[in-house]
Amino acid sequence: MSTTEIDPDRLKMFSFQLFTKLEGAVTSGMIHLGDQLGLYSALRAADTAMTSAELADATGLSERWVREWAYNQAAAGLIVADADERFSLTPEATAVLASPDHPAYGMGMFHRLPQTMRAVEEMPESFRSGLGHDYDSHGPQGAVGIERSFEPWNRAFLLPLVLPAVEGVVAKLQHGAKLADVGCGAGGAVLLMAKEFPRSTFTGYDISQFALARADQKQLESGVVNATFVDPRRTPLPNDQSLDVVTTFDCIHDMTHPQQMIAAIRAALKPDGTWLLVDIKALDTFAENARKNPMASLMYGISVLSCMSSALSEPDGEGLGTLGLSQGRAQQMATEAGFTRFRRLDIDHAVNAFYEVRP
Ligand SMILES: C[S@@+](CC[C@H](N)C(=O)[O-])C[C@H]1O[C@@H](n2cnc3c(N)ncnc32)[C@H](O)[C@@H]1O
Repeated sequence: MSTTEIDPDRLKMFSFQLFTKLEGAVTSGMIHLGDQLGLYSALRAADTAMTSAELADATGLSERWVREWAYNQAAAGLIVADADERFSLTPEATAVLASPDHPAYGMGMFHRLPQTMRAVEEMPESFRSGLGHDYDSHGPQGAVGIERSFEPWNRAFLLPLVLPAVEGVVAKLQHGAKLADVGCGAGGAVLLMAKEFPRSTFTGYDISQFALARADQKQLESGVVNATFVDPRRTPLPNDQSLDVVTTFDCIHDMTHPQQMIAAIRAALKPDGTWLLVDIKALDTFAENARKNPMASLMYGISVLSCMSSALSEPDGEGLGTLGLSQGRAQQMATEAGFTRFRRLDIDHAVNAFYEVRP
């Protein structure tokens, strides 16, 4: 077949494939609305399946709009519609769509969908200039979306599963240690640990003013006194080998100068200290990521809109991006910064890998 000859069946399949992407994008917008308007929460709260009128009543919304939304959600297989057009959630859908305390809760990325997609408008200029945008370009709701993305899993697993997997860290924190969480976002991990280990002191570092403000507010509400949140551009990490533990959760690949940050972490840690590096489970090459990661296209897209954009938000940014910090790359960068021990932890997570890195 010549390259210009079109096979009608393949043409249909290609168009179908293309429009499934648009279906996903549009339905994602509907998921954002379902979350923001309390529609999933109302479905969860009801004991039985609801008509669109009952759902509209429970949420104070207009029935005709709620009905069209519910048709979208049921057609997409996210909610259930019975023969009488009564709508409900399966237990699994309840966990992911309407249970903020469940580790599989998935509304964070949908929370920040409008902010993430708005970045598309800035992208043509970024593609031309090479310069991206940091996390604050997504506004305060961007920081809330990040918080809602990561905290449910952390609340369930950070203290009982992750910290005990890192050699000696729990004992140090119980006794009284100094920990820095770099790229701390809205401070969820810091506040969890600070509450659990009152003899230790915790500092969260982030360059996002929206995330830092949120962290300060949550700290006030929690009454936790052994934690502080700062911007590392004003208050850098100490470079006197005084810290027992440094943690980085999903942020090294977002940084404009990750190698410098890793060197700063090395300089901050005591000789027997530990860096807990958590970052995206990336593979070494595009080909491997495309073959083995069913979410690769989502991740490369998020990278353009958010992670790589952040990592290129200064003119000489490294630009690692969402899938840019594979285990091999992380180990190489850690070695270059003077770390000598690097161990992958046996922790199962949908998108993240966990490493214990030591001087
Ligand atoms: C994906 S978020 C993760 C936030 C947080 N660790 C969590 O798990 O919720 C990445 C964070 O890294 C922060 N960040 C990017 N570059 C940074 C830098 N050079 N120093 C400190 N934080 C940085 C961003 O502002 C953003 O809050």
